[in-house]
Amino acid sequence: MYLLGISGGIAAYKSAELARIFVRQGEEVQVIMTPGAAKFITPLTFQTLTGRPALIDQFWVSEGEKVRHVELAEAAAVMIVAPATANTLGKMAHGIADNLLTTVYLAAQCPVVLVPSMNERMYRHPAVQDNLERLRRHGCHIMEPASGELACGAYGKGRMPEPQEIADFVRAVLREKDFRGVRALVTAGPTREPLDPVRFISNPSSGLMGYAIARALVERGAEVVLVSGPTSLRCPAGAKLVPVTTALEMYAAVMEHFESCQLVIKAAAVADYRPAAAAEQKLKKEASERVLKLLPNPDILQELGRRKGGRILVGFAMETERAVEHAREKLQRKNLDLIVVNDLTVPGAGFAVSTNQVCIIDRQGRAEELPLMPKEILAHRILDRLRPLLP
Ligand code: CTP
Repeated sequence: MYLLGISGGIAAYKSAELARIFVRQGEEVQVIMTPGAAKFITPLTFQTLTGRPALIDQFWVSEGEKVRHVELAEAAAVMIVAPATANTLGKMAHGIADNLLTTVYLAAQCPVVLVPSMNERMYRHPAVQDNLERLRRHGCHIMEPASGELACGAYGKGRMPEPQEIADFVRAVLREKDFRGVRALVTAGPTREPLDPVRFISNPSSGLMGYAIARALVERGAEVVLVSGPTSLRCPAGAKLVPVTTALEMYAAVMEHFESCQLVIKAAAVADYRPAAAAEQKLKKEASERVLKLLPNPDILQELGRRKGGRILVGFAMETERAVEHAREKLQRKNLDLIVVNDLTVPGAGFAVSTNQVCIIDRQGRAEELPLMPKEILAHRILDRLRPLLP
């Protein structure tokens, strides 16, 4: 069960969405509110979303023999306090148990995630910073507030991060760190090959698969370098982003970071060709036809296969026919350990969608067909397959 603690700040309204996300993930959610929180949002909102009454009253006695706050604390897989106000943080840091939320906190032995949210000046006050430091020492996982417009009209640091980011953070805290000590290089997104300053050749890759893999690796404790072509995605917190545009830039960035990594996952959709020359000025329209001369780009993965040493190499392939057969051939040619192939003709698989349906092929030629699933879940399935290959 997830315990979701809500203290009295204006960001409490965003916690309704957070509760919804947890419920959608299949978690049982028990909300505990401070009396102050109930002034910002009603318990009924949470009861409706979670199917359980939101608890406020510290002296509510349960039917069983156990004391209510101990019972709640024992049942919790994780306790999240979002928003965590300066007042609630202060009480938690000093062991004050004057409401149900702070009382349950003291009894809790599960991981605790705190999401501070307040005015920037309050956040920066040494009293609050000292309390956060103290809570960190007590083992709490503290999420950095976001910067932006605050409820008081000012701009600054103190905003509660978006509910989805909080949910991601919680998941990362709970995940087994089975990639700790592994340094991984992930490539993602398309490359762009310029024709002139305003035009380029590219492909519809959104970067979703590569970013999901980078995020999954970070969650499982790996150190991650993410070499990414242009995308609109947020770099997963904790990964080092190396932005590139062209295939040649990606080649240079990959070669620079390759040596220090034990694992390389190449999810990028690299352009196989680039225009022989990129015009310095914008090309003007002409009545006659134009012929475009293209030069081959280096195959980054194939080059890595040559320099592989003891590293684990994973490639991706997109195919429109005889997917498994082509992928097996690519795995051999590029000296890979695994290749993840998707058949672009399957609905819901491939470019710029949030799901994928793939087949994972290993060095022995074994092919494992996976069902259609969200890319985030698929990322973990791929890592599950990879883990035994690493030392
Ligand atoms: N790849 C790469 N460098 C390239 C082209 C591809 O590193 N210049 C990598 C991709 O990141 C991917 C794998 O190779 O992991 C397979 O890419 P794909 O385009 O399917 O394979 P190609 O070898 O280019 O074969 P083809 O386009 O002929 O199917």
